[in-house]
Amino acid sequence: MKGKIPKGLFDILPYGEDAPWKSSHIWQHVEEEIRKVTTDYGYQEIRFPIFEHASLFQRGVGPTSDIVTKEMYLFKDKAGRELALRPEGTSSVLRAFSEHNLASAKKTHKLFYYGPMFRYERPQSGRYRQHHQFGVEAIGVSSAEQDAEVIDLLCELYRRLGIKNFHLEINSVGDLSSREAFQKAFKDFLQPQLNKLSEDSKLRFEKNPLRILDSKDPHDKAIVAKAPSILSFLSPQSKDHFSHLLRILDSLRLPYTINDRIVRGLDYYQKTVFEITTDVLGSQNAIGGGGRYDGFLPLLGGPDLPGIGFGAGIERIIQVMLHQKINLPLIKGPFAYFIPLGDEAREKLFTYTTRARHQNISADIDLHSKKIHHALSYASTIGAKFSLIAGSRELEENVVKWKNMETQEEEIRPFDQILEDLNNKWQTNGL
Ligand code: HAM
Repeated sequence: MKGKIPKGLFDILPYGEDAPWKSSHIWQHVEEEIRKVTTDYGYQEIRFPIFEHASLFQRGVGPTSDIVTKEMYLFKDKAGRELALRPEGTSSVLRAFSEHNLASAKKTHKLFYYGPMFRYERPQSGRYRQHHQFGVEAIGVSSAEQDAEVIDLLCELYRRLGIKNFHLEINSVGDLSSREAFQKAFKDFLQPQLNKLSEDSKLRFEKNPLRILDSKDPHDKAIVAKAPSILSFLSPQSKDHFSHLLRILDSLRLPYTINDRIVRGLDYYQKTVFEITTDVLGSQNAIGGGGRYDGFLPLLGGPDLPGIGFGAGIERIIQVMLHQKINLPLIKGPFAYFIPLGDEAREKLFTYTTRARHQNISADIDLHSKKIHHALSYASTIGAKFSLIAGSRELEENVVKWKNMETQEEEIRPFDQILEDLNNKWQTNGL
């Protein structure tokens, strides 16, 4: 029986893929841009394990959140420890931050990560059980400029990737005192219409009423539309922070919409929350989202330092890029493609292919002894710059035929000068 991948997962392939967004060369391009943009903004990479103690996410993301109650991949190891495949990155970054006492090293910590996250969600277009996230976490600075830097970094990545028409929606969920005041007013507003709410929202009413604000149920939405705004309940400090941030975004000419219904599905947020959406992905339209989480580090046993970050889904980013027909870099082929005609030529050209590689020149060889026109057509499919062809006649005359695959020009050159010629052409064409 042929093996089959589990539901909600996918492979990323160099060719033969069933959907272009699963092509590895596009993923590599996005990953390169992520590395460049994070370097330009002064962020350093952090890597953390694929699984953690389940309690980390229960405490961090929140015991009543959908991620924890419905979506975690939970398992026990042989010693009976309760573990979970990571559903998100922030909790792990902060766990690592406090475990290794990184706070003692400096005052500002700007970290980024990239990798798979796991959520047991109902798979659909744009929603997977293993998705890949690029995330950043800036720890140690509470001023609004830090919020603006994080938001701008994400928008700059989208711009560099060529994505058009993305929308930044922003809100403040305030600090703890603002949230308590709002929660009370919100519950008073909902109480008389409680029986009209969806079953999920009825449960949330007791456990986590704020989450009702971003319910997708149409009846809930209609009720919530008339609810008071969380922005009217912000403490003076949260209000100042929010208006300061908006002022900075204005001066950066970064367009945004204030959406006072955004609360996000993770419990650790305080003050700024934001999401970036596009119109092309249907219901799974968020290509990134994040917010501030002052107060979260002490909850994980760390120092009382503020923080802000985001996560952005790579699958959705690539799908938007393809939908918007953005020019993508071509697959990089070998600089030299050796085409031997016959066994003797194959053995000789193979040593030259290897020696070229040892000189850092990308080279490949046809070991299938294809017919010359098949080998040349393959060389152009893989994007080779030059083909170097030799059969028994060329070996006798001690020459090799060079074909420039772009211009189709041909040249006969001495066989024993292959490496020297390759080096010269590499210097002028290859870098
Ligand atoms: P999140 O909004 O849950 O935030 O996820 C971040 C992004 O990951 C989403 O905007 C979306 O692009 C992508 N994503 C999430 N779930 C899926 C899925 N099932 N399939 C495909 N893509 C998905 C967080 O995870 C927070 N840790 C972000 C953060 C960092 N907040 C502060 N720091």
